[in-house]
Amino acid sequence: MALLEVHDLHIRLQTPRGPADAVRGLSFSLDKGDALGLIGESGCGKSLTVMALMGLLPESAQVRGSIVLDGQELVGRDEAALCRLRGNRMAMIFQEPMTALNPVHPIGRQVAEPLRLHRGLSASAARTEAIRLLDRVGIPQAASRVDAYPHQFSGGQRQRITIAMALACQPDLLIADEPTTALDVTVQRQILDLINELVDERGMALMLISHDLGVIANNVDRMLVMYGGSVVESGPTEAVFAHMAHPYTRGLFAARPKLGARRGPGPRPLLSTIAGTVPELVDLPPGCAFAGRCALSTDQCVQQRPVAETLPSHATDAHGLALGDHLVRCWHHATRQPETPT
Ligand SMILES: Nc1ncnc2c1ncn2[C@@H]1O[C@H](COP(=O)(O)OP(=O)(O)O)[C@@H](O)[C@H]1O
Ligand SMILES: [Mg+2]
Repeated sequence: MALLEVHDLHIRLQTPRGPADAVRGLSFSLDKGDALGLIGESGCGKSLTVMALMGLLPESAQVRGSIVLDGQELVGRDEAALCRLRGNRMAMIFQEPMTALNPVHPIGRQVAEPLRLHRGLSASAARTEAIRLLDRVGIPQAASRVDAYPHQFSGGQRQRITIAMALACQPDLLIADEPTTALDVTVQRQILDLINELVDERGMALMLISHDLGVIANNVDRMLVMYGGSVVESGPTEAVFAHMAHPYTRGLFAARPKLGARRGPGPRPLLSTIAGTVPELVDLPPGCAFAGRCALSTDQCVQQRPVAETLPSHATDAHGLALGDHLVRCWHHATRQPETPT
């Protein structure tokens, strides 16, 4: 049995313009040792999906479908039961480390707190373990800096500290939501390497969320491409990159920042090569969410939600195990090689 099985997950939010279906029928499963990537533009439902797993959705959100952790259904249980079931089995790292850190408490105390609460360590044992964890995540002179405050560290170091906090609970599943987006490029690689090392070392499952294809390509075995709250393409990372069967996946690829490209002043639109913007959730068409921006769109795309089709793929991981099916939801998907990017 898989560690985590999500089946047909729906999340409905209450917005000033009425109810909005922010996540629409998401399914995936994850085993210990797996690394799964979630990719898509801002607003496509990546964070809501993992917030649903963690039980951190806003109170007004309605969840339908099934989230099974180690054989136990989480959807529909009351808060206290959920707290027990999830316990310290899942931990999350956020985009902005200060979301997780309290500015008025020394870092050692913040790493030690879950050790005392969840693992029942004494104050001095928790402090010793906190120093060991801080050392493991690469905080220099951890023993002498354990009483320093978050503002005395760099952004990259602060993210290392939140990773130490996440590890304190010894989770089976580590969820990293854009963990390097707020960091300098030079630091991004180091943080991702650290996450990968720790996941291997402790045999955790990893869910890595990013809007950056390069980050996904280098760090996960399987990926889900999300758009408008649905998965439009999913499968072994290699197979998805080799075929890019969905027009949206190809759009993401074409829009990725090119090495050496000159950047003008001001913010850079993420999908400069895909016309239009992510539709408002309340305005999603009954058919394919991407229809309004897709060059291949027909009446059928607007009216009828594409069914998931399995593509031929024989991808295996480093141990020769099959990585699962390559699926695409598009009435006009291409299984040919991607166009050469210009
Ligand atoms: N608390 C909320 N109330 C209303 N809408 C929300 C709330 N949280 C997220 N949304 C909307 O849900 C959609 C998906 O959000 P999110 O999962 O954060 O996207 P992503 O992480 O992919 O950028 C967005 O359109 C966002 O504006
Ligand atoms: Mg997000």
